[in-house]
Amino acid sequence: MSKIVILTGAGISAESGIETFRAEDGLWAQHRVEDVATPEGFARDPKLVVDFYNARRKQASEAVPNAAHKALAKLEKLYDGQVILVTQNVDDLHERGGSKNVMHMHGALNSALCPACDHRWPAPMVMATGNACPKCAEPAARPDIVWFGEMPYDMDEIFDHLAEADIFAAIGTSGNVYPAAGFVTEARRAGAQTVELNLERSVVGNQFAQHRTGPATRIVTEWVEELLGNAVPARPDFR
Ligand code: OAD
Repeated sequence: MSKIVILTGAGISAESGIETFRAEDGLWAQHRVEDVATPEGFARDPKLVVDFYNARRKQASEAVPNAAHKALAKLEKLYDGQVILVTQNVDDLHERGGSKNVMHMHGALNSALCPACDHRWPAPMVMATGNACPKCAEPAARPDIVWFGEMPYDMDEIFDHLAEADIFAAIGTSGNVYPAAGFVTEARRAGAQTVELNLERSVVGNQFAQHRTGPATRIVTEWVEELLGNAVPARPDFR
């Protein structure tokens, strides 16, 4: 059975109105990474960090999945093979677009985490600082987001999938953040066909065999339709 491994980044949610990180007016132009996306930043000023993710959560909850999210859900449902969807995004637009199995390697806005006992629970829309963990009562609840310097989630499982991938696609990601930016190299080593779908070539663009350039809503939809067309052999013509 053939396996497609798909990595998505902020670019797939851009047309849903969620800003990317590295655009000129993106999140990292408005906020310092060290302040809002590191464990040290959280230790220094938890309120600043919690408020930052409260704003992200509100924005994500008001956004709606776009045609690219929906196309990937259609692929998962109809592809005659296995589709593994890994996202760096912390919004839930893939799930709301219909995808059933999504690996959130950088965490999720709708989840809270206890750093003391690793318990996770649904985050309220507005988190406060110092909330108690419902399991161990430690007053240290934090957003369940993987910050710089922390280990992304599900790495062993993702690398196992990459080792078995027939097709690897990266959608809407700039290739600046590892380990995700290295997935293409891993998939190539495993013999996968590699394709990058992005507005422009990413910084690891030279690693991909194929490029499709344009807005995700158009290029992802087209790509999915081609895969579904290829996956289902044309019926013989009964005359
Ligand atoms: P970036 O903001 O770095 O890159 C977004 C990419 O999407 C860029 O290459 C854009 O050209 C592309 N893009 C923008 N609009 C698009 C559209 N409509 N259609 C297709 N592509 C589009 O975001 P990521 O690569 O996802 O991590 O960033 C990776 C990680 O860096 C994030 O998960 C986050 C951030 O720091 C953490 O916070 C841990």
